[in-house]
Amino acid sequence: MTIRYDNRVAVVTGAGAGLGRSHALFLASRGARVVVNDLGGAVDGSGSSATPAQQVVAEIKAAGGEAVANADSVATPAGAARIVQTALDNWGRIDILINNAGNLRDKTIAKMTPEDFDAVVAVHLAGAAYCTLAAWPHMKDANYGRIVMTTSAAGLFGNFGQSNYAAAKLGVVGLMNALKHEGRKYNIHINTVAPMALTRMTQDIMSEQIKPLVKPEFVTPIVAWFCAEENDTSGDVVEAGAGYYARVQIMEAAGAVLGGGQVPTPEQIRDNYARIADMSGAQPYDSANDVMRHVFRTLRPR
Ligand code: NAI
Repeated sequence: MTIRYDNRVAVVTGAGAGLGRSHALFLASRGARVVVNDLGGAVDGSGSSATPAQQVVAEIKAAGGEAVANADSVATPAGAARIVQTALDNWGRIDILINNAGNLRDKTIAKMTPEDFDAVVAVHLAGAAYCTLAAWPHMKDANYGRIVMTTSAAGLFGNFGQSNYAAAKLGVVGLMNALKHEGRKYNIHINTVAPMALTRMTQDIMSEQIKPLVKPEFVTPIVAWFCAEENDTSGDVVEAGAGYYARVQIMEAAGAVLGGGQVPTPEQIRDNYARIADMSGAQPYDSANDVMRHVFRTLRPR
């Protein structure tokens, strides 16, 4: 059956351009009523303009869809509350939240100022948290919610010159990891996309060969699936771009028990490091408690 979002209300942050615009247009084309949020500033987060959000709303309406614009910043609790309130004021509910807004201040740590660090964490991590905090009580009351976080390979795997961005982007994965537990009994599912797409954010770093292959529209189907009512996955991360979709998972090695009940020496760590780091028996865990259970089973095998 075709996936549709009739009677669903979606908030897409940073939807005035790039990936967010693509997500908003698609959800609206499948029946969702969409709050198109965008601060409308430059890539580094400076400035603001209501125009980008308004233009995407005009595109949605021209295609026969329903949308309203909002130009608040996700990076303050008050701004995030107004973004969610826009959905409530217009349609009385919020079913879908796509935390997509983002900025960049790429620099090596040697050149980075605390302001550069804070400005990026404020949008990607705090912004995603503030919007989620504002939406959560309404989703909980409705016993329904679909939330998508936007991470990055830079955070999942690392990248030169992006310590602020990488820290913030892995932060949203931690946020999801906790919230997948809190949302479970309220039918609130939360997943994360790691996009690869040609947007103003990536136009200077992508090769000319790759550019034609990585339209933002290729990322939207996995986001749209995470937002679907029939999706009951929660807590997944999927890398997506150019028609490639792959789950990314954090795993822990089987581990080694050292010291025989005594505190091991650093020399014992050195001599056993290959066993500690051996990922051949690695497994993922659903929670911190599951890791703890594994550790105690390893210490005291039955
Ligand atoms: P983009 O720059 O086209 O879109 C980001 C949008 O967020 C912009 O329209 C911007 O005005 C808006 N925005 C920035 N600060 C905001 C704030 N405080 N409040 C509300 N809106 C704000 O770039 P793109 O590529 O579409 O980025 C979307 C998301 O995807 C970002 O979170 C980015 O980090 C992430 N991403 C993108 C990748 C790519 O290959 N394009 C790779 C990995 C992650």
